[in-house]
Amino acid sequence: MLKSQIKLYYKNITAEAVGSEHGIDRQQFESLAKKTAALIPGIKEEITGGATRYGLLPDNAQMAKNIKKMVRQFKDKCKNLVVLGIGGSALGNIALQTALNPYTYNLDDKGRKGPRLFVFDNVDPAQLGSFLDFIKPQLSKTIFNVISKSGQTAETASQFLIIRKILVDKFGPKGLKNHVIATTDLQKGTLRKIAAEADLPTLEVPDGVGGRFSVLSDVGLFSAAMCGINIDHLLAGARDMHTRVTNPDFFKNPAAICAAINWHYYNQGKKISVMFPYSYALYGLADWYRQLWAESLGKKSSLDGSEVFIGPTPVKALGTTDQHSQVQLYREGPNDKVFTFLEVQNHGKKLRIPSPPACARELDYLAGKDMGELLNAEKKATEYALLASNRPCLTVLFPQVNAYTVGQFIYLYEVTTSIAGALFGINTYDQPAVELGKVATFALMGKTGDEYEKMARQIKPLTEVDGEFLV
Ligand code: PA5
Repeated sequence: MLKSQIKLYYKNITAEAVGSEHGIDRQQFESLAKKTAALIPGIKEEITGGATRYGLLPDNAQMAKNIKKMVRQFKDKCKNLVVLGIGGSALGNIALQTALNPYTYNLDDKGRKGPRLFVFDNVDPAQLGSFLDFIKPQLSKTIFNVISKSGQTAETASQFLIIRKILVDKFGPKGLKNHVIATTDLQKGTLRKIAAEADLPTLEVPDGVGGRFSVLSDVGLFSAAMCGINIDHLLAGARDMHTRVTNPDFFKNPAAICAAINWHYYNQGKKISVMFPYSYALYGLADWYRQLWAESLGKKSSLDGSEVFIGPTPVKALGTTDQHSQVQLYREGPNDKVFTFLEVQNHGKKLRIPSPPACARELDYLAGKDMGELLNAEKKATEYALLASNRPCLTVLFPQVNAYTVGQFIYLYEVTTSIAGALFGINTYDQPAVELGKVATFALMGKTGDEYEKMARQIKPLTEVDGEFLV
C-alpha cells in the first residue's frame, strides 16, 4: 500500500485543451516554471523552521508516539469521542474521518475500530443541545477532546464551559481529567491554564504551526488514531510528498505546478477555484482545502505593505451531486473558474448494477456495470463538458483513498498553498481579518475593558435592525 502515489494531471489547462484564450501555452508555462522554481528552495526553508514549521510534522516520531500513548490510555474506556474546536481545530478531524472511515462508522457498533466520533465546530444551541440530550446518559463512556491553541475562541470556549459543568456536576471536579483531553499551546493560553488547574491530560498544538496547517499534528491525529486510522501511514504519505514538493525541478514538483497554474489563472481573471471530488470520502478534504486556501491567500496587503486585496475564492462541489446543481453555471456562466477534480481509480468497494425490468430496456446500458465505473465516467463526462466550454481543469488522481494517499494530498495542498502565497507575494500564515469578528463577538457578549465597550457602541448602529428597511 505504501507505494501508491497520488498524481496531478494538468494537460487540460493547456492551450491545446481549452484554446489559446483560456489555456496556458508553452511559452507561458516556461515562464511560470522559471518564476516558481526560483521560490522552491525558500519554501523548503520556510516550512521547516522559517515562518511556519508544519513541514517538520511528518518526521516527528515522538509526536506519533505521544499520540499513541494517549490513545492506549483512553481508547478502551471510551464509546464516544467528542471533539470541540473550530476552523483549523476541527476541519482536519472531520476530513480524516470522512476520508478514512466508512460512511456508517458511527452507526456500526460491531465493526467500528474505535469510539463513535462527533466533531462540534459551531455554537448552535439546537445542534449541541440535542446532542447533549443524547450523550448525557452515556457520559461515563465519553471523552471530550477540546482543541484550541488560544483557549479564547468564543465557540470552543462556550462549548467547553457547558460540557465542563455537566461533567463536574456528574463526576466532581476531580473527575474532569478522566473525561477531557485538552489540545492546546504547550506553554501559554487560557486552555493551558484550565488544563493545569484541573490536571487534565494534554496534547499539543505545535508552536509555529497555524490551525489550518495543523491536521498532521496532535490536533488532527489524535481523533484519527482513536478511531482506528493508521497515523503512521498518514505521516509516511506526507513524507513521501515532502520529497516531491521540495524538488527544485518545477516539472517534477506537483505543488509548484498546481500553485503556478492557480496563480496564473487568478491573474487572468479566473478568481474562483473549484475543488470537485468525485468521491464522498474526499468531500471533507475539499472543505479543509477551502479554509486553507481562503485564510492563507485572501489578503489585503502584500509583503511590501502595499494594498493588493488579493486571493482566489475556493469553492467545493461534490461529484456527481453538484452536476445537477452547479454545472449549468460552471459551463455557461462566466469563465472565471479553474476546476480541480479529485478522481479515485479504485473506490475500494464494488457495487454491481443489476439488469432493469423488461419494461425499462432504456436502462440496459447500466446493467452489469460497477457503480464506481459510473462515478468515474461521470467525472470524465463533466470534465469533457467543461473542456467543450473552454474551462480549464486539473485532476488529482488517487489510486485509492487510504491513509497514505490522504497524507500525500494534505501535504501536497499545504505546500501548494505556501508556494501560491509566495507567488501572490503575501503572508500566507496570518489571518488578521478574522480577528475583528472575534473581538467584536467579545464586545457584543459583554467582555469588560475599554476596547470592547467602545467597539460594542460602534457595532450597535451598524447592525441593529432599522425598521425603515424592513419589509
Ligand atoms: O487556522 C486558524 O488559525 C484558525 O482557523 C484557528 O484554528 C481557529 O480560529 C481556532 O483557533 P483556536 O485554536 O485558538 O481556538
